[in-house]
Amino acid sequence: MRKTIIAGNWKMNKTIAEAVSLVEGLKRELADCVDVEVVVCPPFTALKTVSDMLADTQIKLGCQNMSSEDDGAYTGEISHTMLKELFVRYVILGHSERRDYYKETDFWVNRKVKKALEKNLRPIVCVGEKLKDREAGNTEKVVEAQVRGSLADIPAEQFEEVVVAYEPVWAIGTGKTATSEQAQEVHAFIRGIIRDMVGDQAAAGLRIQYGGSMKPANAKELLSQPDIDGGLIGGASLDANSFISIVKAGL
Ligand code: 13P
Repeated sequence: MRKTIIAGNWKMNKTIAEAVSLVEGLKRELADCVDVEVVVCPPFTALKTVSDMLADTQIKLGCQNMSSEDDGAYTGEISHTMLKELFVRYVILGHSERRDYYKETDFWVNRKVKKALEKNLRPIVCVGEKLKDREAGNTEKVVEAQVRGSLADIPAEQFEEVVVAYEPVWAIGTGKTATSEQAQEVHAFIRGIIRDMVGDQAAAGLRIQYGGSMKPANAKELLSQPDIDGGLIGGASLDANSFISIVKAGL
C-alpha cells in the first residue's frame, strides 16, 4: 500500500545544459513509470527548464529547500509561490547538509514543513545521526529528537503528504552504506515514533526513504526491507543509467 518513491537529490550540481542532458536520459526509460514514484530535485537554476521537460511525463519535480515565509525581504530565499509556479511537487527539507553547514534547526525545519503542507507541497523531511552519535550509542536519541522536532504539531491526516528520509550522515557521499539491517532497524524505529505521535494509520501509510550511498548494487537489498519505502539518492542520481537502475530495483 506504500508506493515506492525514488528521488534524486542533485545537490549543487548540473548547469542547465547538463540538466537537459540528464533529463533526456531519464525520460527515455522513466517517462511512463507509474509503479514507482520518480522524483528529481535539481538546483533552483534548472527548475524551470526541467519542469518544462517533465510536463508530458510521470516524473515529478522536487526542489532542495524552501523559505518558511510567504514573501518579502528575505534575501536569497525562494518561496512556495515561486516553486508552485514551476509545478514543483516535493520539497526536500532539513537535509543534513543544511542542518550542518547552514545551521538549520528542527524549529526551522518544522516551520518549513508546516508551510509546505499548508501550500500543498509535499515535504521530504530528512533526519539522520552523525558517526559520533552512532559510535556513542545515541542513534535513536538523535533521530527521535529530529523526528519529533521537525514534525511537531502536524495533524495525522496531513502525514499522507509527508515523506521522511532517513539519511545516516556517515553514509552520505562516503561510499559507506548502512547495512540493510541497520537501515531497517532505524526505519522501524522512526515508524514507531510516528505511531506514538499520530497513531497507527498515519504511521502505516508514511513512506520512509533511505539515503546514503544508495546505488544500483545495493538498492534492491535496501528496498526489500519491510520499512524502507524508497530512496533519496545523491551521487548516483547524477548519472541517468545509475538512477534508472535504482528505480528499476524498486519495481
Ligand atoms: P549520496 O547518495 O551521494 O550518499 O547522498 C545521499 C543524500 O544526501 C541524498 O539526499
